[in-house]
Amino acid sequence: MELYEAIRTRRSVRDYDGAEVDHAVLERLVAAAGAAPSPYNAQPWRFHVATGATRDAVCEITALSTVHLQEYLDVLPPSRLAQAEHFFASLGGAPVVIAVTVPCSDDDLSRINEYMSTGGAVQNLMLAATAEGLACCNLTFAFWVRDKLSSLLGIGQDREIVSLVLVGHPAEVPNDPGRLETIATYLG
Ligand SMILES: Cc1cc2nc3c(=O)[nH]c(=O)nc-3n(C[C@H](O)[C@H](O)[C@H](O)COP(=O)(O)O)c2cc1C
Repeated sequence: MELYEAIRTRRSVRDYDGAEVDHAVLERLVAAAGAAPSPYNAQPWRFHVATGATRDAVCEITALSTVHLQEYLDVLPPSRLAQAEHFFASLGGAPVVIAVTVPCSDDDLSRINEYMSTGGAVQNLMLAATAEGLACCNLTFAFWVRDKLSSLLGIGQDREIVSLVLVGHPAEVPNDPGRLETIATYLG
């Protein structure tokens, strides 16, 4: 698939058919992520790729996030709430859940560098998945249960989980949610 087509057609998918993803494909996705740029080539990202029983255990933990939805009761209609509760517990049936971590840092510039670099790495991974005919969704809601996830996945206290990336074969074709038309100011 041509790069611009992957960029244009990638969508956040929240419903998967559950079919496994070949290990060799997962290795290609991680390699694409690791090819991202980072300051001093520091490569702050790490990926914990959960499948099978580990993926199921991740879902048991993300299901606990639903208590935090209470904070959104004012803005979420009941149908959306039920939908979110189901999604938190199933992660859309995605067979692969990748926990993305960066080093913990108190220094603002280091944090910006780590988040910027790792965002690029995750986007590389998602575009590579699109090119492989797979789908993804980058999730930060797991922030609420990241300590429990770290224990499950053996992630030390020197690193923090910044997102979970779902990977699998799509069972839905989401609509394009649209984009802003004006996002740049051209000067000169
Ligand atoms: C950093 C980041 C965090 C996100 N967190 C969530 C999330 O917690 N739950 C969710 O359903 N989608 C999440 N998304 C997906 C966005 O909702 C989605 O990218 C956006 O609506 C645009 O849709 P598209 O990806 O299909 O173009 C996240 C996306 C990004 C980049």
